[in-house]
Amino acid sequence: AVSATVVVGTQWGDEGKGKFTDLIAAEMSMVVRYQGGHNAGHTLVVDGETFALQLIPSGILNPHVLPLIANGVVVDPKVLISEMDMLEERGVSTEKLKISGNAHLILPYHQELDALHEEFLGENKIGTTKRGIGPAYADRSMRMGLRVQDLLDEEGFKEKLGSTLEYHNKVLTRVFDQPPLDADVIAEEYLSTYRPRLIPHIADSVSLIHEELEKGNRVLLEGAQATFLDLDHGTYPFVTSSNPVSGGACVGAGIGPKNIDRIVGVAKAYLTRVGAGPFPTELFDSIGDHLVDIGHEYGTNTGRRRRPGWVDAVMLRYASRVNSLTELAITKLDVLDDLNEIKICVAYDIDGERYEQLPYNQNLLYKATPIYETFPGWKCNISEITSRVDLPSEAENYLSFMEEQVGVPIGMVGVGPGRKQVLNFEERDTEK
Ligand code: GDP
Ligand code: IMO
Ligand code: MG
Repeated sequence: AVSATVVVGTQWGDEGKGKFTDLIAAEMSMVVRYQGGHNAGHTLVVDGETFALQLIPSGILNPHVLPLIANGVVVDPKVLISEMDMLEERGVSTEKLKISGNAHLILPYHQELDALHEEFLGENKIGTTKRGIGPAYADRSMRMGLRVQDLLDEEGFKEKLGSTLEYHNKVLTRVFDQPPLDADVIAEEYLSTYRPRLIPHIADSVSLIHEELEKGNRVLLEGAQATFLDLDHGTYPFVTSSNPVSGGACVGAGIGPKNIDRIVGVAKAYLTRVGAGPFPTELFDSIGDHLVDIGHEYGTNTGRRRRPGWVDAVMLRYASRVNSLTELAITKLDVLDDLNEIKICVAYDIDGERYEQLPYNQNLLYKATPIYETFPGWKCNISEITSRVDLPSEAENYLSFMEEQVGVPIGMVGVGPGRKQVLNFEERDTEK
């Protein structure tokens, strides 16, 4: 059997995982989403057309790819169906899409509870996407979630929904003073409207993935969110409720660590974060505004302005460790085109002490002063360049320094949103 490849975010999300997944998918026969839900927003630009995907794997635009939503994902059927409709309307077939029977369903109360919980937190809110992601994973942990396979058995679905909703209605009415939800209304929506649409796609995802690998075909595992949004390894509590790290691909797809041999860490050439939480290299000045402007740093999903900052090599070293990165894919280098100087954080100064590795005590991140290395900008348009050797020396110096700081080679560099705006890719392709 051959081994699988993972694409994982190394920062706080929106690094450009979708674009690189779409690109690498050309060499793959299956692309698998292994965690998260429609809190993700993955944007692909192919032949000038823009596709924003939330749940469907970003390999779908490659007609030969089998797209699979694995057990680790939380699925809102309404969103999934509207995404399928959107793709079909635009001429992209979703017929082959498979959804794990073990994936958990997002139900209307999850979304309501997400919003109520954020409201309850007030000033301390996480800034979630309010998609119901956290409450759906909480139900899974509490062993009262409903799964995609429950749609197969209508009576069983109603029974499970009834008992779960009895619990959630107590919370809604007695804790939050909200009206209760009606189980019959929800059951009707899920069983009459969604069930018939999803049934043809429900599958045994573990068998499908392993059969593919055993045939010697290549499988790509597409991470959503990112290392620093990981429930275990991110900046808790300002994280999502799943495990985006590469190890999460094992759990979320049902493969062992030995089934993976290539782990591509996607990193933006600068840094952004959407939602609350610490951010040592955050910029509050006109350079930050420039990055947001030129990089169009507004959420694909919620439209929120992303917080901008400089690349943080301390974070990337940690991402390299917890994901076993075998290569980096740098995106949005072109967004830095007009800057006079570019900085990269090489260490933190915390109370006079130098930290080259991420401190485990995350309160320290709030008082970390970044120690920067400053590079002159290249001040020209690099978006048409096709090969790394043709980059201006200033850009090459910046990339080489990043490789040296993180200790991981850069395999691909994005210089624009388009599928073809990638350096070195032609070279990679002809090598094989
Ligand atoms: P994801 O969540 O990691 O898939 O990333 P998003 O799609 O949320 O955000 C990345 C944005 O940057 C999208 O709008 C992409 O089209 C765009 N993008 C990706 N790579 C590049 C690049 O190399 N240069 C530029 N200018 N834009 C890029
Ligand atoms: P992609 O896959 C950026 C952030 C939210 C919030 C925190 C928790 O496009 O990179 P949640 O709704 O998951 O409970 O929110 O995580 N967040 C993301 N930020 N990109 C994402 O996905 C994100 N998914 C969740 O903003 O801070
Ligand atoms: Mg995104």
